[in-house]
Amino acid sequence: MQYAWWSHGGNELSTGEKSGTSGTQLKTNVQTQLTSSLSKRSLAIHNMQTAADKYAVKAHKNLWTETNHSGNIVMTLAENRNFNERFAQRLGECAIWTKPILEDLHYNHPIGVQPVREAIARHVNQYVFKMGKFPVEANQIVTGNGVLAVLENLIYAVADADDGILVIAPFWHGFVPIITGRMGVNIIVVKTDPSTYWWPSKNALDEALREANRSGIKCTALMVCNPSNPLGKVFSEQQMLSTIRWATSRGFHFISDEIYAATVFDDTVPFVSAWDVASEHLSPQQQHLVHVLWGPSKDFGVPGLRMGAILTKNPQVLNVEAGASVFTMTSTPMQRAIAEILSDSTFVADFMRKTITHLKQSCDSFTSELRRHGINYIAPSAGLFVVIDLRSLLPSRPTFDDEFDLYKKLCDAGVVITPGNDCHTPEPGLFRVCPFGLPETCYSLLSGRIADLHADLTS
Ligand SMILES: Cc1ncc(COP(=O)(O)O)c(C=O)c1O
Repeated sequence: MQYAWWSHGGNELSTGEKSGTSGTQLKTNVQTQLTSSLSKRSLAIHNMQTAADKYAVKAHKNLWTETNHSGNIVMTLAENRNFNERFAQRLGECAIWTKPILEDLHYNHPIGVQPVREAIARHVNQYVFKMGKFPVEANQIVTGNGVLAVLENLIYAVADADDGILVIAPFWHGFVPIITGRMGVNIIVVKTDPSTYWWPSKNALDEALREANRSGIKCTALMVCNPSNPLGKVFSEQQMLSTIRWATSRGFHFISDEIYAATVFDDTVPFVSAWDVASEHLSPQQQHLVHVLWGPSKDFGVPGLRMGAILTKNPQVLNVEAGASVFTMTSTPMQRAIAEILSDSTFVADFMRKTITHLKQSCDSFTSELRRHGINYIAPSAGLFVVIDLRSLLPSRPTFDDEFDLYKKLCDAGVVITPGNDCHTPEPGLFRVCPFGLPETCYSLLSGRIADLHADLTS
């Protein structure tokens, strides 16, 4: 069952149909509507549902299924459903279900029980911090109900409302409702493009900061998602180091969302965690500014379990997180189950190996369908998405409004994918596709529908 991000699917509060925000300061672009009895902030957050998501609501009413091949193919959620049955079986075997612990029925420490923080530390040290030289310890971890929840708590710790966080683009549009909608913090877009391998040059960072300063916005942090959602790119150790240095030398926090760390299926560029980079190259004081986010939602394909963790050496941040996490705890029995599964090294090694092999195969099969239908794409090496290039379907000198028009045509042709504008791509015409939540039979169908639309529009 797919669902539209940020939509209850119920009554619409707003029917705006613009192509969405494309400026560099998202907060100032947010439209608030005072026509209802709700608070301004709740309306603002509702209005962050992108125009694309609003348009797709009707497409969600007729979804592709095994028995409805003419339904709409929705590939907007970064899901990894391949080994759900195997995971569910292991989950069912957890001791907690047959031997419940009475204490778990009561309030527990909000940072997470010791066994789950120890299990996360061991897991991350093996599968994320691959240098192996700088292990994280359980007491440097605070858990919460998902990476989004721990991100929100981290933003709460490092920025006040109206401050700014620099975010390296293109980035996942789901950051906006949290950073700006819930925390009232401006997102300052740091632009990148293929000419710098999608990594910001020092000039791009300086320019983004200058622009924030010109608008009177005080920046407190720089954030990246590595491997990148939406690009599926892994950033190199050198790229990470230069940017971490740029941030920490200015006293900014550096936030690295590494939720896709164990989805790397092509390690031409080896994944190196910001934790390892900071531990190897920065002073202890600067290391306190570097924070890593991890969770099992993507590597294990289990976002429904709601587990995430912030890893930091900063004692003050750990204290704030401990206080804030009282609102965002994962239920204690689920923490115990996750601790048991992560500690089952045979299960985890086998699961991770199969996941990576399958992701690679699925990606090969999806991209070969794209090639067969003449659709260009940016080859990913990690993650659960592929960015396709539909610039040939746009007029010359295209705008993001042209991209949105194309998006609507795609939706009407049964193809629901994320327009680049929502992710702050540098130019119109790039779309993010998340193929791995649907069976491979959909790959050819989706590519065929795009190719048919191409033929219609260019005939
Ligand atoms: C980059 C990124 N961070 C965080 C999340 C959300 O993670 P969680 O399910 O653990 O809250 C997503 C989900 O798509 C994501 O793509």
